[in-house]
Amino acid sequence: MIPNPLRDPRDRRLPRVPEPCALVVFGITGDLARKKLLPAVYDLANRGLLPTNFAMLGFARRDWGDTEFAELARDAARQHARTPWREEVWERLAASVHFVQGSFDDDNAFDELAEALRELEGSHGIGGNAAFYLSIPPSMFPVVLKQMQRTGMAESTPDRWRRVVVEKPFGTDLASSRELNSLVDSVFSADDVFRIDHYLGKETVQNLMALRFANTLFEPVWNGHHVDSVQITMAEDVGIGGRAGFYEKTGAARDVLQNHLLQLLALTAMEEPVEFSAEEIRTEKLKVLRAISLPDDLRTFAVRGQYEQGWLAGQRAHGYRQEEGVDAASTTETYAAVRLGVETRRWAGVPFYLRTGKRLPRRVTEIALVFKRAPHLPFADTDTEELGNNQLVVRVQPDEGVTLKFGSKVPGSVMEVRDVSMDFLYGEQFTESSPEAYERLLLDVLLGDATLFPRNAEVEASWAVIDPLEEFWAGTEPYAYRAGEWGPRAADEMLAAEGRRWRRP
Ligand code: BG6
Repeated sequence: MIPNPLRDPRDRRLPRVPEPCALVVFGITGDLARKKLLPAVYDLANRGLLPTNFAMLGFARRDWGDTEFAELARDAARQHARTPWREEVWERLAASVHFVQGSFDDDNAFDELAEALRELEGSHGIGGNAAFYLSIPPSMFPVVLKQMQRTGMAESTPDRWRRVVVEKPFGTDLASSRELNSLVDSVFSADDVFRIDHYLGKETVQNLMALRFANTLFEPVWNGHHVDSVQITMAEDVGIGGRAGFYEKTGAARDVLQNHLLQLLALTAMEEPVEFSAEEIRTEKLKVLRAISLPDDLRTFAVRGQYEQGWLAGQRAHGYRQEEGVDAASTTETYAAVRLGVETRRWAGVPFYLRTGKRLPRRVTEIALVFKRAPHLPFADTDTEELGNNQLVVRVQPDEGVTLKFGSKVPGSVMEVRDVSMDFLYGEQFTESSPEAYERLLLDVLLGDATLFPRNAEVEASWAVIDPLEEFWAGTEPYAYRAGEWGPRAADEMLAAEGRRWRRP
C-alpha cells in the first residue's frame, strides 16, 4: 500500500476510509457547523481519513457563492481544528467545497441541490453516495425531509447510499419524538438514519465498554452485591451562552438528562453484548433504558434548579433570568438531578443518581461507582475516620482517565487507614490525542457504522423516563442556586435522605 503522508503514523485508531461520497450540511452557517462539523471535516482530511473522491456541500439562505462559503469554512476549521493546520490539506479540501443557496421551502433550491449532487458524480466521482446532516432546529425537519423525498435525494439504491444525520433534541417528549421518528423513517430507511448523541463519540465513553468487557477485574464487582450506588455527573461552568432561544424551551432535563446522561447510564448498567456490533450494543442499551424506574417520591428524589447571580473563577456571573433573551420570570431549569433505579437482577436496589447543571464550579463529566463499605473493619473507629467507600470513577472529561479510590495504611507506628487514589490518565499513558467526538461520529456516518448512534427505540425509552419528571415539574418554580455552587440544597438533601453525599469532583 502507498503510505499516506498526511496520516499521523502514530494514530492507529481510525484506519478505515469511507467510499467516495458527499457530505451535505443543512444549517451550515450555524454554531454547530462552525465549531464542530467543519473542523471535524478538516481534521479527518488532515489525517487522511476522507476518500480522495469527496465533496462537501453547504446549504443555507445566505447569498453566497462557493468562494465565500469556502472562506467561512476555512476560518471555522482553522479556528477550531484539533490537528495542526496545514494549508495544503485545506486547499485540496477547498476544491471540493460547494454552496447551494436557498430556503427550506424553496423547491428550486432543492432541485438545484439534487442537480449539484448529480454533477458531483461526474466531476468528483462521488459515486452517488451522500450523507445529509440536519444541523437545523427540529421544527425545520419536516419541510427539509419532504424536499428530499420530493427530489428523490433520500433514496438509497443498490448502487449508492443515502444517509441522514439527525441532531438532538429528538423531539420534546415521547409523543413528539415518536412523530419525528416516524417522519424520518418515512423518508429514510431505518439503517440510513444516524441520530447523534455526541457523548457516545467521546473516547472515555467508549472506554467504559473496554474497561468492563476487556478485563476480568471489574465485572465481578460491577453489580448490586458490591455497588452501593452510582453517581453520574455532567457539570458545566458555562452558562447558556447565546442559546437563550433554544434553552428557554428546553431546560437541563431535556437538553442533557434525556440523552447524554441516560446513554451514560445505559453503558454503565448494560450486560455484555454478544458482539461489538451496532445491533448487539444497541439492544443491550435499550434493555437498560426500558428497565429504568422512577422514584415514587419525586418531591424528594427529582430536583431541578436555576442559577442565580454569583461568582465563578473570580468573575461575577449573571443569574439565568438576567441572561440576554431569557424571560425575567423564567422557570426553565439549568440544573436537574434525579434518583433512578434499574430493575434488573444486576442492579435491583442500587440507586443511580444523575445530575447535570450549568454554572457549576467546574466542567466535569464522570461516572462514579460507589462500593459498599467493608462488612467488618478490624480497626478502632478513630483509626478509620477518614475512610470513605471504595470508588471507581471514570472521568469522561476533562483529564480523561479512571481513578480508583481505596483505603490505605498511613505510614507510621499506628494502624491508621485513610483513602488514597490510584489514577490512570489518558494523557500520561497514550501519545495519541483523542479524536473529537464529532470527528469520530462523522467518520462513522460516512462509513455506515451505526454502533455509536442511538436507535429510535432508545430515544423513545429515554423520553418515557423524562416525561413524568417534566409533568411533575410543570408549573413549579425551580430551586435557586448561586452560580459557582454545586446546585441547589435540595439536591444535597436528596442524597442525604438516604445517608449519602454527592461526590465533589
Ligand atoms: C450539548 C448541550 O448537547 O452538550 C449543551 O446541548 C452542552 O447544553 C453540551 O453545553 C456539552 O457538550 P460537551 O461536549 O462540551 O460536554
